[in-house]
Amino acid sequence: MAGKTLRVMFIGDVIGTPGLKLVGMMLKGFKKTHRIDFVIANGENAHNGKGLSAEALNQLLEAGVDVVTGGNHTWSNFNFFDTLKTHPKVLRPLNYPKGTYGRGYGLYPLPEGLGNIAVVNLQGRTFMYSIDCPFRTADWALKQLKDEARFVFVDFHAEATAEKIALGWYLDGRVSALVGTHTHVQTADERILPKGTGYCSDAGMTGPFQSVIGMQSKSAIDRMLYQTPHKYECASEDVHFSAVVVALDAETGKTVGIRRIFYPEFEKGEV
Ligand SMILES: [Fe+2]
Repeated sequence: MAGKTLRVMFIGDVIGTPGLKLVGMMLKGFKKTHRIDFVIANGENAHNGKGLSAEALNQLLEAGVDVVTGGNHTWSNFNFFDTLKTHPKVLRPLNYPKGTYGRGYGLYPLPEGLGNIAVVNLQGRTFMYSIDCPFRTADWALKQLKDEARFVFVDFHAEATAEKIALGWYLDGRVSALVGTHTHVQTADERILPKGTGYCSDAGMTGPFQSVIGMQSKSAIDRMLYQTPHKYECASEDVHFSAVVVALDAETGKTVGIRRIFYPEFEKGEV
């Protein structure tokens, strides 16, 4: 198995129909180009820009996604609860209080004798709900997963980059990779931490960029101008694909390569 790698693609927050359509159009090509073995996508906003639905989940799975992770918006669509309770390929952050619907981690079989990959979904607490500690919850999850999976991939759904970086250092050498979601803005800090954990603070957004993080700009601006609620509507224009790809050593489970994808690039002119 020397030199063999498992190549995992993690797709940043898929936003509504525009994001779903782009994943449907592009994922098969990306999988071929980047020789991807396993695909994870954050889908907490795949249902009209807020929450998830059985239809959106199926669209992602049919497009070639293997597991769909979530975040604070996972519970925003009440019609999704039955699917969330039972579907093995949808995750929500593990560190919500005991009794919350859904599962926070899963074990998924890999081809060619590679065993299993564990996917763990966690959520931050800085500027977010005061749920259970993501650091201690990660310790607990890794204890459960001991001897179950050579590869452990973490989606850390969090607002603050400092909290994400801290969890990256905390888990360095104990998980294969940790990639953040939730801000919808891709960070250019992808790297391999010293003990072999692939890290990127945020994978970004797969959705419409003529918007304020996926929502039509007018209501987002009005919220800020007037400090009152204005109904968010999912935007539709200028759709981009955001993801992070990691190559994981098949023997150690550690990251040996990491790459960010943002497609198509923005128009930037000449400098
Ligand atoms: Fe979120």
